[in-house]
Amino acid sequence: MSEATIRIITAAEAFPMRRYLLRPMLPGAASRYDGDDHPDAVHLGAFFDLGSGEELVGVASFLPRTADGEVSRRVYQLQGIVILPAVRNTGIGTTLAEHGITLLFERGARSVWCNGRTPAGPFYERLGFRPVGSEFITPGTGPHYRFVRDLS
Ligand SMILES: CC(C)(COP(=O)(O)OP(=O)(O)OC[C@H]1O[C@@H](n2cnc3c(N)ncnc32)[C@H](O)[C@@H]1OP(=O)(O)O)[C@@H](O)C(=O)NCCC(=O)NCCS
Repeated sequence: MSEATIRIITAAEAFPMRRYLLRPMLPGAASRYDGDDHPDAVHLGAFFDLGSGEELVGVASFLPRTADGEVSRRVYQLQGIVILPAVRNTGIGTTLAEHGITLLFERGARSVWCNGRTPAGPFYERLGFRPVGSEFITPGTGPHYRFVRDLS
């Protein structure tokens, strides 16, 4: 468990980290996700003191929809999880994802899925996600797998 503090944030607060760390080669619009403003969407920030006060070091968004794009409160897509490079591999990403999954489970969600970058596969599998189907390429962000974690 990392020592980061996890708090609800807005999609606008998550945007700069998505934009500059996840999709720097794509237009800014690519870092605004369908469903960002849905009332059941959950955006989380990880806050950590790097030496000059607490700051945002990680973001993750959970959007209420199935892989077919249907809005659902039982199935959420994890999208846009990213941690500041200086603090990766210290457990913050795991803490952030687990916090979101626990919160969604308490709200009635029973499954979380994501289109996870292939290099992040071990991270998702350690979190209890399993890959489903074949690897696919997303323009601008490379090879991915669909990962699913059942919560029931
Ligand atoms: C993928 C990502 C979100 C993971 O976040 P993170 O904070 O680095 O993740 P964690 O530290 O919780 O776990 C990562 C690894 O660190 C290890 N780790 C966890 N706590 C640790 C600790 N206290 N000390 C050392 N290593 C630790 C874990 O074993 C884990 O190993 P794994 O890759 O084999 O699963 C982050 O690396 C990132 O932002 N990557 C670039 C963006 C990206 O690819 N996002 C996913 C888009 S699909």
